[in-house]
Amino acid sequence: MRAVRYHEHGGPNVLQVDEIDDQDPGQGEVRIDVEAAGVNPVDTYFRTGEYPVDSLPMISGSDVAGVVDAVGEGVEEFAVGDRVFATGLGNLGRQGTYAEAVIAPVDALAELPEAVSFSEGAAMSLVGVTAWQAFVYHAGLEPGEACLVQSGSGGVGHVAVQLADAMGARVLTTASETHHDHLRDLGADAVFDYRRDDLEEAVADVAAPDVILETITNEYFGMDARIAATGGRIVGIGNTDSEAAVPMSASKPKDLRFQMMTMYNTPDIGEALSRLAYLAETGQVVPEVARTYDLDEAAEAQRAVLEGSFLGKLVLTP
Ligand SMILES: NC(=O)c1ccc[n+]([C@@H]2O[C@H](COP(=O)([O-])OP(=O)(O)OC[C@H]3O[C@@H](n4cnc5c(N)ncnc54)[C@H](OP(=O)(O)O)[C@@H]3O)[C@@H](O)[C@H]2O)c1
Repeated sequence: MRAVRYHEHGGPNVLQVDEIDDQDPGQGEVRIDVEAAGVNPVDTYFRTGEYPVDSLPMISGSDVAGVVDAVGEGVEEFAVGDRVFATGLGNLGRQGTYAEAVIAPVDALAELPEAVSFSEGAAMSLVGVTAWQAFVYHAGLEPGEACLVQSGSGGVGHVAVQLADAMGARVLTTASETHHDHLRDLGADAVFDYRRDDLEEAVADVAAPDVILETITNEYFGMDARIAATGGRIVGIGNTDSEAAVPMSASKPKDLRFQMMTMYNTPDIGEALSRLAYLAETGQVVPEVARTYDLDEAAEAQRAVLEGSFLGKLVLTP
């Protein structure tokens, strides 16, 4: 089978398409005939070595959607021919998903409804589970609360906007101006250009957010703490400076809760994916596929995920 691997850490050019042997699924695993693989910023962090992997060469990619074509011992939940999607692959102990076939443990996958395309499934898995963990597990977002989603046009952001809307929240979000109308269509009640000088005042004029999903935590934590409602919950999923300080003076008087998180710690990824599958099937949370690439364009896709401005997700289709 063909697989996009890196034999050493480095820039996008270390990605190469290799012809490798198919693997058989082990105990509690299935093999997926891949129809689509999502492209995420985290794929680039494993590629550069910023995040650890067990060994090299490594297949890149975390998200996958496709059809089960073999099951390992003890697998009763899934059968050959099932449409499935999965995430959390391509890191410690697991090869990735930019390939024609992928081995996945059953607790990292869920059935993909007929009404949801393979590209949509691959586009939704990692970002959907991230938004799910942030709102449902960490923040306990409630109907009628105000929720600020930073970077609403991003992979996580555009799904988070829809999930917060589906949960009955009043949704505020930030994005480049060009994506504002689209984000209103997805359920945002107010959209702000993150470049404006008066961003903090503009958001605060509309609502004091009860929940904030933060993508660049070091840059925005001060603003978030100042504008959050008393009892607010700030969930940070990304940062560009891990040494940045938490502003105590803005947080303490409001009893703010601050949570950094990683999707990889989700206790039951398959369960979260099942809930997301229902939301996608019923049209409540539908990921947008901005562009698809062939396997041999993986380097271009990984460049674009860090540098481009598009609404939604990039997907590889082998
Ligand atoms: N902790 C976790 O489990 C987890 C999971 C998934 C992602 N993440 C992290 O979360 C971050 C976002 O991931 P993603 O997949 O959504 O990335 P993405 O699809 O590449 O989206 C990036 C977004 O950032 C926006 N942006 C760029 N500069 C900005 C600024 N100065 N202020 C506010 N927004 C800005 C872009 O907006 P425009 O295009 O509109 O300009 C774009 O929407 C990344 O750092 C990623 O590593 C963490």
